[in-house]
Amino acid sequence: MLLKVLFASFALMTVAQGKSKYCCYPDQWEAVEGLMAGSVDDEGHATITNGYVTVSYDAKNQRIYGVDTITTGSVTKVYTFLQLFTEGVQYLIVNKTCTRAKLGAWNNQNCIPDNATLTNQYRLGLNQSIMINDYTYSISNLTYIVSVENKSCAPVVEYNFGDLNGAQLMTGVGVQGITVGIKDPSVFDVPAICKQAPHDQSTLRSVSFTRRR
Ligand SMILES: *[C@@H]1O[C@H](CO)[C@@H](O)[C@H](O)[C@H]1NC(C)=O
Ligand SMILES: *[C@@H]1O[C@H](CO)[C@@H](O)[C@H](O)[C@H]1NC(C)=O
Ligand SMILES: *[C@@H]1O[C@H](CO)[C@@H](O)[C@H](O)[C@H]1NC(C)=O
Ligand SMILES: *[C@@H]1O[C@H](CO)[C@@H](O)[C@H](O)[C@H]1NC(C)=O
Ligand SMILES: *[C@@H]1O[C@H](CO)[C@@H](O)[C@H](O)[C@H]1NC(C)=O
Repeated sequence: MLLKVLFASFALMTVAQGKSKYCCYPDQWEAVEGLMAGSVDDEGHATITNGYVTVSYDAKNQRIYGVDTITTGSVTKVYTFLQLFTEGVQYLIVNKTCTRAKLGAWNNQNCIPDNATLTNQYRLGLNQSIMINDYTYSISNLTYIVSVENKSCAPVVEYNFGDLNGAQLMTGVGVQGITVGIKDPSVFDVPAICKQAPHDQSTLRSVSFTRRR
C-alpha cells in the first residue's frame, strides 16, 4: 500500500485541465526527473526512496513514456511505462514482463491550477538571468509547491507533502535537462513484448491512482 502511494506520486503532478490563469507547461517536452521521497506509516516504519525518471511528455497526442529507476534501501528496480490516453491503455514493463491496464481520460495538461497562489519569485543562474515563480496549492491531503521558469513555464522542481492513507509522505522532484519537443516519437510505439500483454488491475505505476481518486 505504502509503495503504491509512493509510486503514484513520482511523476510531476500539476493537474489542471486546459487553461490556467497562471501558465501551462510546454505541450511536448523531455527531461530527467530526479526524485527523493520519504514516508512514515502509522506504525512508524520509515521508507526513503530515491531515483530518477526519464520522461517524454506529449500533451498534443495525449501520451507519456517514461523509465523509472527507483531505489528503496538497497533494492533498485526499473519500471518502463507507456501511457496512451487516446487508446485508454497503459503498459508497464517490469523484469521483461509487460502488463496492460486501463487508463482514464487525459488529465495531465500540467497547468498551474487556478486555486494556486504565487508564493515566491526569485532569480537563478549566472547574472540572475532566470526568473522562477513558486506556486503553492493543495489537492486532497497533499500540499504542492511547484517552481517553474517564469518565461516558459518549464518545470524546475516540485515538492509535495502531506498525510495520505495514514502515511506521512514527502516527495521532491527536480527536473534536469529539459528540452522542448519529442526527439524520437517511436518511444510511443507499443513494444513487441506488450502486444500480447495480460491485463493487470494491480499495476504499481499508475499515475491515475492519486489523480483520479
Ligand atoms: C525482478 O526480478 C528479480 C529477480 O528475480 C526480483 O528480485 C525482483 O523483485 C523483480 N522485480 C520486480 C519489480 O518484481
Ligand atoms: C553575464 O554578464 C556578463 C557581463 O555582463 C556577460 O559577459 C555574460 O555573457 C552574462 N552571462 C549570461 C549567462 O547572461
Ligand atoms: C485546486 O484545483 C485542483 C485542480 O482543479 C483541484 O484538484 C483541487 O482539489 C483544488 N484544491 C482545493 C483546495 O480546492
Ligand atoms: C513573470 O510572468 C508573468 C506572467 O507570465 C509576467 O506578467 C511577468 O512580467 C513576468 N515577470 C518577469 C520579471 O519576467
Ligand atoms: C486526510 O487527512 C485526514 C486528517 O489527517 C485523515 O483523517 C484522512 O484519512 C486523510 N485522507 C487521506 C485520503 O489520506
